[in-house]
Amino acid sequence: MPTTDPFRLAEQAASEVVDALGGQAPSVAVVLGSGWLGAADVLGVPDTELSTGDLTGFAVPTVAGHRGSIRALEVGGRRVVVLVGRVHLYEGLSEADVVHGVRTAVLAGCSTVILTNAAGGLNPEWPPGTAVALTDHLNLTNRSPLSGPPPPDPYGSRFVDLSEVYSARLRAVARGVDPSMREGVYAALRGPHYETPAEIRMLRTLGADLVGMSTALEAIAARHLNAEVLGVSLVTNLAAGVASTPLDHAEVLAAGAAAAPGLGRLLRGVIEGL
Ligand code: HPA
Repeated sequence: MPTTDPFRLAEQAASEVVDALGGQAPSVAVVLGSGWLGAADVLGVPDTELSTGDLTGFAVPTVAGHRGSIRALEVGGRRVVVLVGRVHLYEGLSEADVVHGVRTAVLAGCSTVILTNAAGGLNPEWPPGTAVALTDHLNLTNRSPLSGPPPPDPYGSRFVDLSEVYSARLRAVARGVDPSMREGVYAALRGPHYETPAEIRMLRTLGADLVGMSTALEAIAARHLNAEVLGVSLVTNLAAGVASTPLDHAEVLAAGAAAAPGLGRLLRGVIEGL
């Protein structure tokens, strides 16, 4: 019977990826959030593009602006995989589905994982288009990618330490590329509805600077596998109640398109500076 263990599925997918890359293991993974596709285009032309539909264990994305593929390219002498078409809890998928791409990338060899996302900004001084490096997160999804049976050998304990999910070293690299880079705490909610103004006031009280519907579970899964994580949010809109206008997904994608060249240069600079 085929395995359903999420770690074994990711091992299988990882070996398929490495085989498809001619045995050359990648060392850096970039997970693209909503609106970040243009940034990936700026990062460089992929020499290989794999459809996640042809790889073990990948769920099919259902969101506009997300396509399921893994692009491979060389950046600054490093083999990089770009995961296009992240999936979310709000699509009715499991925690294991949500982190499968990150687990696959780490097991394929990526010791650095760059998680990007689109986020609502709680700070009125951060206009749409601002890139913010994550210092930490509030996982308000009420889910963990480590729930379920204990991870099989040789993986570490499910009681993973999260004292430094987002690497201070990688944030310093990002600041080296863009000294004006802002930093903040990302609140992950399940969505898919946007928040109410009261919820945004609550999140501000809790210490959040950004709000979105991804990243936290992937960051936990990556840390569990000992990868170093950089999280970068693109503020695509001011959060509900901070903004004077209603929120919509088209606005999120448009802000991403406008910011793409700068974000692409940021990703390139970070990877070159690793
Ligand atoms: N809230 C939640 N998720 C988001 C937002 C937001 O305002 N903008 C982009 N993703």
